[in-house]
Amino acid sequence: MRTKLSITVLPGDGIGVEVTREAVRVLRAIAEMHGYDFQFRSEPIGGAAIRETGFPLPPSTLTACLGSEAVLLGAVGGPEFDSLPPDRKPESGLLALRRELGAFANLRPSASYRAIEDCSPLRATVVRGADILVVRELLGGLYFGEPRGFTSDTAALNTMRYSSEEIERIARIAFQQARTRRRKVTSVDKANVLETSQLWRKVVTRVGREFPEIALDHMYVDACAMHLVTNPSRFDVILTENLFGDILSDESAVISGSLGMLASASIGGKVGLFEPVHGSAPDIAGRGIANPLGAIATAALLLRYAGGMEQEARDVESAIAEVLDRGYRTADLVRDQRTQPVTTEQMGAAVVEALSGIADRRHAYHAV
Ligand code: NAD
Ligand code: IPM
Ligand code: MN
Repeated sequence: MRTKLSITVLPGDGIGVEVTREAVRVLRAIAEMHGYDFQFRSEPIGGAAIRETGFPLPPSTLTACLGSEAVLLGAVGGPEFDSLPPDRKPESGLLALRRELGAFANLRPSASYRAIEDCSPLRATVVRGADILVVRELLGGLYFGEPRGFTSDTAALNTMRYSSEEIERIARIAFQQARTRRRKVTSVDKANVLETSQLWRKVVTRVGREFPEIALDHMYVDACAMHLVTNPSRFDVILTENLFGDILSDESAVISGSLGMLASASIGGKVGLFEPVHGSAPDIAGRGIANPLGAIATAALLLRYAGGMEQEARDVESAIAEVLDRGYRTADLVRDQRTQPVTTEQMGAAVVEALSGIADRRHAYHAV
């Protein structure tokens, strides 16, 4: 475990800026409570960086990320950049950052919280106890395959490409994660149509033999999309390729009831990249009402994977559950007219308060 951590903060665009502020507030509180030395350095990315420098990932931002021990990112993108070609959009800055960091394993946990079961469009009996980890391959597939581009004004092309090595390394991460959970991996593909998926299935099956204690099954992605909303409790770890993982992880937000709850960690590379699953949410940006709990849960993942601070990570996760138990709701979590929503900032402050209560209780327990 470290007690010093240098963190590059990339707030990005829209609500990315708002939720990241609260995640940093929680990290500062952890540092203060435990006497740790966390250094924060903020850099532009995405639309903010395009406005400042003309580039979505300025070299100075990349250098700062590579020189730090963790990267905390808000979100990138916005409607004013919609008409730019893909390689100049804010999103291309994020994709380049993932590639440069070598962060190929994207972990996206999604669980139901008892206190906000009513937020899910699914029946409480369906979501209760659901606890999924989507392990998304992050550096391959259609996102990065070459050739790509417009071949004329009326035709365009993207390439789906995977090598055995790329599949093997992400499969290994999924099986290792399953060991710490309920020991089940569902590998999701489209092997009835795609050769890349046939290779995926073959390699995952082979890697699975190294993990005899883990139950492995395979599922087509269309069926998985259905099972996720009819019986999410049947899943433990979902292992899948880049684009399927992008789609299925957003879909898994129905379990907690809001995309604003979901966190992610991208590991396996030179430096870990930590970002909530949601985007810049232009429809609510600038109003101070975004849900910061996904970004705060992302800070917990940063503590766990970049800092090796398991107890501190769990404390942040307990603090999130506690504020929900106490009735704090941002607007996306309000289901009845009588509940007054809290702001992004109030939610962040409530988490910090809950955290200090958790630390005090542990202190009192040890003192007895
Ligand atoms: P989005 O995730 O930004 O928003 C989808 C819906 O969820 C919106 O209604 C939004 O208000 C709501 N929502 C998302 N996060 C929320 C939160 N924390 N609190 C409350 N409500 C929340 O997806 P989108 O609208 O399709 O995309 C907007 C922009 O974000 C696009 O430019 C897209 O490319 C980008 N994007 C970036 C990332 C990222 O940087 N990691 C991820 C996804 C989308
Ligand atoms: C995500 C986002 C990104 C992705 C975009 C913004 C490039 O949707 O992190 O889920 O597709 O990976
Ligand atoms: Mn996405």
